[in-house]
Amino acid sequence: MGSRIAIIGTGYVGLTTGACFAHLGHHVVCADIDRARIERLSNGILPIYEPGLQEIVEAGIASGHLRFVVGAAAAAKDCEFAYLCVQTPQGDDGAADLTYLQQAAAEIASVLPAHAVVVNKSTVPVGSTKVVERVLGRHDVSVVSNPEFLREGSAVSDFLKPDRVVIGSDDPSAATRVADLYSTTSTHLIVTDPASAETIKYAANAFLATKISFVNAVAAVCEAVGADVNDVVLGLGYDKRIGHEFLRPGPGWGGSCFPKDTRAMVKIAEDAGYDFNLLKGVVVVNDEQRERMVAKVERAVGGNLDGAVVAAWGLTFKANTDDLRESPAIAIITELIARGAIVKAYDPQVKSHPTITVGADAYEVCDGADALVVLTEWDEFRWLDLAEAKRRLRGSSIVDTRNLLDRSAAIRLGFSYQGVGR
Ligand SMILES: NC(=O)c1ccc[n+]([C@@H]2O[C@H](COP(=O)([O-])OP(=O)(O)OC[C@H]3O[C@@H](n4cnc5c(N)ncnc54)[C@H](O)[C@@H]3O)[C@@H](O)[C@H]2O)c1
Repeated sequence: MGSRIAIIGTGYVGLTTGACFAHLGHHVVCADIDRARIERLSNGILPIYEPGLQEIVEAGIASGHLRFVVGAAAAAKDCEFAYLCVQTPQGDDGAADLTYLQQAAAEIASVLPAHAVVVNKSTVPVGSTKVVERVLGRHDVSVVSNPEFLREGSAVSDFLKPDRVVIGSDDPSAATRVADLYSTTSTHLIVTDPASAETIKYAANAFLATKISFVNAVAAVCEAVGADVNDVVLGLGYDKRIGHEFLRPGPGWGGSCFPKDTRAMVKIAEDAGYDFNLLKGVVVVNDEQRERMVAKVERAVGGNLDGAVVAAWGLTFKANTDDLRESPAIAIITELIARGAIVKAYDPQVKSHPTITVGADAYEVCDGADALVVLTEWDEFRWLDLAEAKRRLRGSSIVDTRNLLDRSAAIRLGFSYQGVGR
């Protein structure tokens, strides 16, 4: 049969959620305020790159299970569930800005059918379920928190095979109805109160950011004492209490979530009277990591970035996405340019950028450069011909901020190679 689901906000989370629910047999209407985005989506043209998403969007449109409309009210008027998937950017004080969420709730308040369930999928601070309830002002409608944990780059499989589904509600029957939507995913279901559900999401992102900052700090120690972080991490990861996941050193975390969510968590704690010093340190380590990468490039070009030519492989904040939001690659390149470097970048998913020169292929950007810097862990970079890159470069330095390339092969070819933590 399938349920009637409205998705309010058709970005990374909304489009994935809508397309996946359609794939599971529900009747989904996705809404956005961006008219051009909706027109393109109606014709099967996606605004984002996400593996597997194109196929299920096309299948959903063809089967009639997935439609796109302009405006939240048009989607919500016949729904049983309205999923709020709008952005919650960082506000001036570090807290999440709920303007878009409140606006979306206000737009659907008068059209929601009786007994509809409004589901908060946006990442929102503790208490936001109540905020949405107040804006809706409807006693015949329930609000449920159902935070999203998908990772860009594997969003479709993360949605269809989640590690867990978290549902926060004071209304057991609404919680059960939302839980039923995930019955085919056979996963761990955590049903709790709204404050706990909202806290789980922030705590999860804060922990993941902590893991990365931790391994980046360990990498800095490895460099100082002459250890190899790759071996150190291997030795750490076999301890079941630690595990291998998310222990890869790199240029620091970024993306649309960790930067704003860590700061929001610090603010949530502060407002509640707890000084979250640990998480503040995690943010500091991350900022330092970017500076450390810039310093490596500076060394690679002989100590002076002014006038140096740098080839950069990678712009997105991680592989398998086209998302540039808060990308460490962009931050590092921007700093290199600010210090006088001339940077030409290549990325498999990014063909132009407002402030960075983007080349058409990975070898072309090496032409005449003093150093090559690897900034995103795209798998294809592993397989590029380093000898060809060497022929094109003027210098012979590699800075591999992802420890992605074959270090021995690079050294054999005559490169001077700097990785992270080794
Ligand atoms: N991107 C991720 O990997 C990810 C993962 C988990 C959770 N989240 C959270 O999910 C939320 C959405 O993130 P995203 O990356 O999908 O954002 P996004 O910016 O890609 O998409 C948000 C969309 O909402 C639309 N929108 C805003 N107001 C609207 C309204 N009133 N009516 C209809 N549409 C409206 C915008 O035009 C935009 O297309 C955020 O809270 C984010 O923190 C994101």
